[in-house]
Amino acid sequence: MNLKTSFLKNRIDADSPNKNIVPVTTLIDNANKLSIGGCSIEDLVLKYDSPLYILDEITLRNSCRAYKKALVKYYPGESLPIYASKANSSIFMSNLVASEGFGLDAVSEGELLTALKGGVPNDKIVFHGNNKSDKEMEFAIKNNIKVIVDNDHDLKRLEEISNSFNRDIEIMIRFTPGIECHTHEYIKTGSLDSKFGFGIESLSKLFEAIRKTKHIKLIGLHAHIGSQIFELDPHNDLGEIMVNVISQAEKFGHNIIELNVGGGLGIKYTEEDDPPSIEEWIKTVSSSIVKACNKKNLNLPILMCEPGRSIVSTAGVTIYKIGSFKEIPGIRTYLSVDGGMSDNPRPITYQSNYSACLVNNPLNNNSKNKYTVAGKHCESGDVLFKELELGDCKTGDLICVFGTGAYNNSMSSNYNRIPKPSTILVCNGEAEIIQRRESPHDLLRYDVLPDRFIKQS
Ligand code: LLP
Repeated sequence: MNLKTSFLKNRIDADSPNKNIVPVTTLIDNANKLSIGGCSIEDLVLKYDSPLYILDEITLRNSCRAYKKALVKYYPGESLPIYASKANSSIFMSNLVASEGFGLDAVSEGELLTALKGGVPNDKIVFHGNNKSDKEMEFAIKNNIKVIVDNDHDLKRLEEISNSFNRDIEIMIRFTPGIECHTHEYIKTGSLDSKFGFGIESLSKLFEAIRKTKHIKLIGLHAHIGSQIFELDPHNDLGEIMVNVISQAEKFGHNIIELNVGGGLGIKYTEEDDPPSIEEWIKTVSSSIVKACNKKNLNLPILMCEPGRSIVSTAGVTIYKIGSFKEIPGIRTYLSVDGGMSDNPRPITYQSNYSACLVNNPLNNNSKNKYTVAGKHCESGDVLFKELELGDCKTGDLICVFGTGAYNNSMSSNYNRIPKPSTILVCNGEAEIIQRRESPHDLLRYDVLPDRFIKQS
């Protein structure tokens, strides 16, 4: 066993999937081949082609249940976990989280529509965004979906809508708590210099402005400090800060009954990553809120949290087929796969690291070679791994990349007019398609050639 694939020999923590690199149902069979959800990966690619996104239902449900169970165990008040659908939005994902009793966080009409079509009850959906369009706002209000007011512009429009309908509208507000945490700069959101939410220093003015409206009822507070966070302290601090803001709001006559602490719990992408468990995260958040409420003699609010990555990332893998090799003597060997930055833009965007193995030799049982794994796009930076250790491999072999369930499909593009892969759900030996593969023809659907241009045959 070489070091880079030792992760496949780790004990799998089924109760907190974010602490594993691989889906909880991952196995290596007697023929030394990889299977997930009881399905041979090789067979899935024969049937569904590559590249292929795969989601493991048991890992998804275990993650949801870990949040629910910990909330019941550590939070004495009411609670509602809400899936941050930006991590991976589909009718299937909406349906699955709804079946686990989750709500859903959406940031566009597209995500809202997907949630409703997937069966998430409208009173469990929250609508976020720092620049919601008028059309999106109307869509949310028409469907009785709670808006999280991010700025004065949101508030003004909601006031106009509520006055024109002569009806009360319940809102939450998002504020930046001024908390620094260690994560990539692009995915930090809680520090003062953030495009999201009201600055904490502007809240008194805001509470007064809301108090003066006729129909806006402020019932909740929201804050989100960032994503892929391994520390617990920032979330401990957040609980206390949010409870202080409840007291502040109550001085202006607002009755705050909902507290939404956002998401952010990290997952294990590589051997070096060691995130806290879902249970530890919920315990930290819950106890800090309970302690702060007791201190201030406040009723416990309904606790909401918005995990995205820690629900779906570890459940997902991407399978690629190896194509060409290019050896540059003394420098490196490139190995190119049939996908890349269009199905996984995270390495080029955030320099993200992943773990991977060969499907038909997951433990690298023969020799070890180092490869630079390149995507097929016309961009030198389209590199998925800088130095991946793999056993002997050749054109046509399959590579499985782990931890791709979150922010891969949802951030995918059609760069170079590459169609998006399909997504297959696996469970107990059954495989079902939940998103169909695009074809190059699909990509032409919205192209229009004005009449005055002559069609070339
Ligand atoms: N709530 C709000 C308001 C958010 O903005 C986010 C993520 C979440 C919840 C969920 O956070 P999570 O539990 O997934 O950490 N594209 C980046 C991640 C961007 C996160 C954006 N907001 C990436 O690929 O790492």
